[in-house]
Amino acid sequence: MPIIELRDVSKSYGGFDALRAVNMSVREGEVVCVLGDNGAGKSTLINILSGMHRHTAGELLIDGQPTAFSSPRDALEVGISTVYQHLAIVDELSVWRNFFLGQEQSGVAGSLKTAEMKRICAAQLAEMGVDIPDVDVEAGTLSGGQRQVVAIARAIHFGARVVILDEPTAALGVKQSGMVLRFIAAARDRGVAVVLVTHNPHHAFLVGDHFTILNLGRQVLDAPRSAVTLEELTRQMSGGAELDTLSHELNRN
Ligand SMILES: Nc1ncnc2c1ncn2[C@@H]1O[C@H](COP(=O)(O)OP(=O)(O)OP(=O)(O)O)[C@@H](O)[C@H]1O
Ligand SMILES: [Mg+2]
Repeated sequence: MPIIELRDVSKSYGGFDALRAVNMSVREGEVVCVLGDNGAGKSTLINILSGMHRHTAGELLIDGQPTAFSSPRDALEVGISTVYQHLAIVDELSVWRNFFLGQEQSGVAGSLKTAEMKRICAAQLAEMGVDIPDVDVEAGTLSGGQRQVVAIARAIHFGARVVILDEPTAALGVKQSGMVLRFIAAARDRGVAVVLVTHNPHHAFLVGDHFTILNLGRQVLDAPRSAVTLEELTRQMSGGAELDTLSHELNRN
């Protein structure tokens, strides 16, 4: 059974349809890529999955149960954790403080001593293959890739079954993106489900098991890896039919 299932989920803001009848499943140990151009509805979809916004039509099922989230807390409680590119890590705090950020009130971190939190953070990062020798350094000194990876590792350590990543490689170079993509694959191999939102079909195709492409709120592709090629993803992403029209217009075919 999928952890998350969307059935004909739509979202309108006033009269504007930001998402129209989207269908999607997210299973344990699977990377689902959500692709689309600016304004396609990617963030709207994430907001629904993360409990930030309520869909206006269709059904959201969690572990097979029809569900309506009232807040991000509701989504977190069922194991859906969202890592936002810019909000994930606080530069001025050490790596270990970032790791336990937001957990202070929960029993988990509340009763722990500093030395113990440092030890857990270091052990957890090492266990997940993240190479950060000193968890006492300020997070601001980390590379962009390391920051993303720490934020993902933290979500998994604190119980995420599904990690939603909003453009985790958008601001990164090739090497840093590689670090993040490797870590996504490692998380998948541990049984975690990942929803990867990206503009980059190459990045998506490196780790994706399933692909959804949105265009102006409509789902224009929904296919498993076995049914698509990188060329097809790239073509759909760069405008598909519109590109053909343009090519014709510019006499390039
Ligand atoms: N709160 C809102 N009120 C009204 N319209 C909204 C709201 N949020 C998003 N929209 C509109 O819904 C459409 C989809 O927006 P969304 O942010 O989901 O796109 P996106 O795929 O994330 O784009 P980007 O790649 O630029 O982040 C856009 O036309 C946007 O203007
Ligand atoms: Mg967006």
